Amino acid sequence: MNTEILQLIYLVGSVSFMIGLKMLSKPDTARKGNLVAAFGMTVAIFGTIFLYEGIKVSNYGWIFGGLIIGSILGTLSAKKVKMTQMPEMVSLFNGMGGACAMLISAVEFTHLTHNYAIGDLPKGHLLIILLGLIIGSISFVGSLVAWGKLSGRVGDKTLKIQQIVNIGLLLLILGIACYTIMVGPPETTTYFYVIWGLSVLYGILFVMPIGGADMPVVISLLNSFTGVAAAMGGFLYDNKVMLVGGILVGSAGTLLTLVMCKAMNRSLTNVLIGNFGGGGNGESSTSESGGHVREINPGDTAILLKYANKVVIVPGYGLAVAQAQHVCHELEELLEKEGVGVKYAIHPVAGRMPGHMNVLLAESNVSYDKLVEMENINPEFATTDVVLVVGANDVVNPAAKTDPNSPIYGMPILDVENAKNIIVMKRSMKAGYAGIENELFYQPKTSMLFGDAKGTLTKLVAEIKAL
Ligand code: TAP
Repeated sequence: MNTEILQLIYLVGSVSFMIGLKMLSKPDTARKGNLVAAFGMTVAIFGTIFLYEGIKVSNYGWIFGGLIIGSILGTLSAKKVKMTQMPEMVSLFNGMGGACAMLISAVEFTHLTHNYAIGDLPKGHLLIILLGLIIGSISFVGSLVAWGKLSGRVGDKTLKIQQIVNIGLLLLILGIACYTIMVGPPETTTYFYVIWGLSVLYGILFVMPIGGADMPVVISLLNSFTGVAAAMGGFLYDNKVMLVGGILVGSAGTLLTLVMCKAMNRSLTNVLIGNFGGGGNGESSTSESGGHVREINPGDTAILLKYANKVVIVPGYGLAVAQAQHVCHELEELLEKEGVGVKYAIHPVAGRMPGHMNVLLAESNVSYDKLVEMENINPEFATTDVVLVVGANDVVNPAAKTDPNSPIYGMPILDVENAKNIIVMKRSMKAGYAGIENELFYQPKTSMLFGDAKGTLTKLVAEIKAL
């Protein structure tokens, strides 16, 4: 009876994951989607604890001890984390998933060697255990390295022959795994630990050479690895909810990786071996083509904004760094009160994680219908009086359309240069993520409003109120 109820619970859990994932794709349903998926996970966990026949009552202390410690740590870190540190936290949490898959393989290998003679280990089981071990270890260690890079604890270290070493190492791991499964040598246990050690090493070497700024893409890729590793656990225990959850994470992570690469117009190979971004952070006030920068002050900007009919705000990574979303919303409301139509132009890879700008603006209660996707806002720039670029750089760089030698050539961008006036708010002439100069800053219709986004937006609000 318990088994039937448990299967039903797993079905409810699996369906909740799918509905939750679907709801996560829209900003207005995302919060609820998260709760629906969390509900699915909760019923699956408690169903397993109380109804799965293999669980010993004597282990309840360990199980609930782990649950309580994990829940406290998870809640505290999620509450404490700053929006700009979100990719770091996702990376750490993802690493924990990889670690679980890795440890499940280690435990199940011990069970297997207790139940069978070394030469007679069932090949199917061993294959799943080794795959879970390899993928889980790479995901665990790779995520930790990614976290270290994002938090500035680990630098970009690359050997010249790194990629060859990596490919060689991966082939060696797969070779030893195939040999162990097919031949079943007396040293199988030793090989298991060798595979484990080499996979950990591969996890480090795989992520180490990737450009620090490319970490969000790598984290999404590692996330898909963790999903696949968890799905291996589902096969191992014949646990449907683990299998469905793992497959969903694996496929969603893969799709997200591809969508990010497409939105940046870069191949996955280029992300993995390109060491892109952060290169040219040098300042200059004249462009390579000899143009000059025109500065504007908050007072003049306030006049432009107040007497405009239509204003489009382009948020970028700098808005997140400055935590200026609330004052940005205040400016938008103020302008709307003055009869100015205000919209936000959302580029798919603005910021440093998928949906970064949507989450940021939702946090300050900006209405969702004001957030307009790139394809829909681009035709509107021609009829826009003022575009206010707040801490965005690459996503408004016309080089993506005009310069075939630019590393971002082909990346779809926001056509802000079609507007009547463009005000760019940033602190200096420094480059953005791609490390390249932006010709937009030197165009005659563009004015630079220098300063921290939060401080400058606060000044703008005060100036408009005073007009
Ligand atoms: P960026 O090109 O990174 O430019 C951000 C700009 O914000 C910088 O030029 C910086 O200039 C300015 N800034 C930083 N702190 C600021 C502050 N406190 N106040 C005002 N300005 C500040 O950002 P973007 O236009 O949003 O483009 C995102 C980039 O990230 C793209 O190249 C994209 O491909 C990449 N990327 C995105 C993702 C996802 S999924 N979103 C994933 C991987 C990579 P100053 O230093 O002069 O202030």
